[in-house]
Amino acid sequence: MYRSHTCGELRIADVTKEVTLAGWVQTVRKFGSITFIDLRDRYGITQLLFSENLNTRLDANPLGREFVLQVKGTVNERSNKNTNIPTGDIEIAVTEFTILNKSAVPPFSIQDDTDGGEELRMKYRYLDLRRNIVKKNLELRYAVGRSTRNYLHENNFMDIETPFLIKSTPEGARDFVVPSRMNAGQFYALPQSPQTFKQLLMVSGYDRYYQIVKCFRDEDLRADRQPEFTQIDCEMCFVEQEDILNMFEGLVKRIFKDVKNIDYTDKVERMSWEEAMWQFGNDKPDIRFDMKLCNLKKPSTVFTNKADNAALIGGVDFKVFDEAETVIAISVPGCSEYTRKQTDELTEWVKRPQIGMKGLVFIKVNADGTYKSSVDKFYDADKLKVIATAANAKAGDLILVLAGAEERTRKAISDLRLYLGEILGLRKPTEFKLLWVLDFPLFEYAEDDNRWVARHHPFTSPKPDHIDIMIKNNPVIENAEKYLEHPYAGIKANAYDMVLNGNEIGGGSIRIFQRELQEKMFAALGMGAEEQQHKFGFLLGAFEYGAPPHGGLAFGFDRLCALLGGSESIRDFIAFPKNNSGRDVMIDAPSTIDTKQFDELQIKLNLKQ
Ligand code: AMO
Repeated sequence: MYRSHTCGELRIADVTKEVTLAGWVQTVRKFGSITFIDLRDRYGITQLLFSENLNTRLDANPLGREFVLQVKGTVNERSNKNTNIPTGDIEIAVTEFTILNKSAVPPFSIQDDTDGGEELRMKYRYLDLRRNIVKKNLELRYAVGRSTRNYLHENNFMDIETPFLIKSTPEGARDFVVPSRMNAGQFYALPQSPQTFKQLLMVSGYDRYYQIVKCFRDEDLRADRQPEFTQIDCEMCFVEQEDILNMFEGLVKRIFKDVKNIDYTDKVERMSWEEAMWQFGNDKPDIRFDMKLCNLKKPSTVFTNKADNAALIGGVDFKVFDEAETVIAISVPGCSEYTRKQTDELTEWVKRPQIGMKGLVFIKVNADGTYKSSVDKFYDADKLKVIATAANAKAGDLILVLAGAEERTRKAISDLRLYLGEILGLRKPTEFKLLWVLDFPLFEYAEDDNRWVARHHPFTSPKPDHIDIMIKNNPVIENAEKYLEHPYAGIKANAYDMVLNGNEIGGGSIRIFQRELQEKMFAALGMGAEEQQHKFGFLLGAFEYGAPPHGGLAFGFDRLCALLGGSESIRDFIAFPKNNSGRDVMIDAPSTIDTKQFDELQIKLNLKQ
């Protein structure tokens, strides 16, 4: 028997017990003829006391950090208790020890505030994983998975595996491809998600499917994106959107309860995509704080039923506003006393290439009700008051206004809002706010190809009363600059995203389930009959054999874990993540392969310079 107890287990009630422990040496502290060692395992740390008689043996066999040690001994009450750890009341008076294995000096210290940089820790990830802080993240991940499985099991969902070697049909991200030896010259692709398979399972009658599954996407990486990541992937049949929203907000609430002991009793807020873009400039708004946008011009046909406030800012010959497609203001609470330096800094911030604005207009609503603005030359107090009222600004607020092309300006004001939310401490990491964003556009304009692509994926159903707009209009975009005026820009889908604190944690849709409509959707995306058959013949075929109405969604498992763990970087919650260049620096992948492997695949490498 290697151990009778773990290093996190023994308490004062265990005093006098004879025990055997095994673990890693965290620290060695020598005091004259006695030595204290902290022994660590997954469960905690226990102090070991080596007294005089063992010290000669210890001197002959010095222990270093991370040595693997087995000790036998008696549990004693400690005279000098450590209230910071659960085992702090006791120590083991060691009677016998065995060095199970030595360790080289680790390249960084195995503790929470380690001296190891990211690169080094990733190279020695197996050592990094020994650190408590990283272990806690993986434990949280495991707890989220367990809670998910329990909830879905209780609700009749069946976990069914789907293949990893599939057909390449890139839409959205690029595929990772795998050459086939047995079918020379042909390639599999790794799935970007199990989308079509889960739909086929609905056709097969498995009415509630789920899988916690790896997905692979060859896309540019960010803190919240990895080339291989995990989804909680779900699909249901004989459901409407409402059923899906209820089922899965139930799942997230259950995870909150099980993992964080949070009773999320509030109703999950809902907002249409249009409202999200109009009020926050963002399809995944952080609704933990207000600071909504005040649209001073109605920019495009995308926004229906919205008033155009252009009259409020016109008539003073201020060309920046008059000539801009979009003018949007936000009112920043309590910041009217910002100094010149501070407003200059904000101006520089929006001028950075990532934001790309030409400048920033500000209006200070002073505490005494007067105004001071960077456009006093054009707007008198009465006119500023009109803008301030529209922007919902109160005395003491600072109004910031951006003007320019629609998409850039909307994104910029959204980024500015988030930036200010951050510096004003309005984005509290301990507060969780869920939101459903509904009614996404069905299509998105792909500038590079000058065509429409599916905003979610091509299996998403259009809103029933928008189907005709899709069928009756030619998808060809004559005037690329005015694509927003094309009828396709206004078509909405039965698609939804779940947003947590400004992050998209999941998304899904009600699917098309009739062959005819699916063909029309593919055609709208510029796919001819032959290409449809080649890429998706299996799905179109399946739809001829009694496909039920169905829909579903997938959560980004890594993202959900990271947010619950208070981090925006999903890497911290993945045991063996890739770096920003998609490399695993520990195993050194990707790497070249042998000539023999190329020969077997009948592939000749001809890299372009
Ligand atoms: P979607 O592409 O929106 O939907 O993905 C679902 C969720 O997965 C997460 N996610 C990622 N997480 C980490 N790294 C990535 N590279 C990455 N890409 C996406 C996001 C996202 O909300 N098949 C559909 C779902 C459906 O329609 O049922 C799908 O994959 O949190």
